[in-house]
Amino acid sequence: MLIDTHCHLLSSEYDDVLKEIKQALTGGVDKIIINGFDVSSSKEAVELSKRYKEVYAAVGIGPENVNEITDDDIKKIKELSNNEKVVAIGEIGLDYYWTKENKEKQNSVFKNMLKIAKEKNLPVIVHSRKAIQDTYNLLTKYNVTGILHCYSASLEMAKEFIKKGFLIGVGGVVTFKNAKTLKNLVKEISLDNISLETDSPYLSPEPYRGKVNNPSNLRYIVRKIALLKGVSEKEVEARTSLAVTSKFDL
Ligand code: NI
Repeated sequence: MLIDTHCHLLSSEYDDVLKEIKQALTGGVDKIIINGFDVSSSKEAVELSKRYKEVYAAVGIGPENVNEITDDDIKKIKELSNNEKVVAIGEIGLDYYWTKENKEKQNSVFKNMLKIAKEKNLPVIVHSRKAIQDTYNLLTKYNVTGILHCYSASLEMAKEFIKKGFLIGVGGVVTFKNAKTLKNLVKEISLDNISLETDSPYLSPEPYRGKVNNPSNLRYIVRKIALLKGVSEKEVEARTSLAVTSKFDL
């Protein structure tokens, strides 16, 4: 079974979302988690999840554009999380690469998202860029588990997250020529601690780097991980999807 745990098949990202979902499902992907990143994209993720049995939703407010976020927006995410096809709170997190100026607001929104996850007993899908220590501290404080999406920090830190029950999200970057740290990390950690993702429409794997991404490109990521670990593609699919379904209600 092949599961794309992180993509944004949303009308804000594509001209024809339904066509993209169809392409994913006919292209060998069995289950898809569409991640929202604000109220309207989270709402759309829920709507799409109701239309297709293979599609699930993650709802949340991400670290970008947090400045305008109000208590009412937080409340709306909480309401959306009650839908039965919502399997996670995501994409949420911290991004100090993008900007550090609104660090406090990012932290406050992230905390509110973690509170919802805790209260609803849902796993989280976390974006963390140049903010791994703060991310770790808050995830530990709220005692949640889930996926570190598009993981880009150190192997040591990955091991700490794995101890807390987190999966390390690996996507198209692993196929890039210069991704030495990530390739080494994939070799070092167990397949039972890895989840697969495309982050569509972003981060297309080789040979489509730079083009618009679709979850059906997940097979290139599987192929690369199989090569790095010296196992079959079937084994990569089986063990990573088992890791995901043991934490997410798919
Ligand atoms: Ni994303």
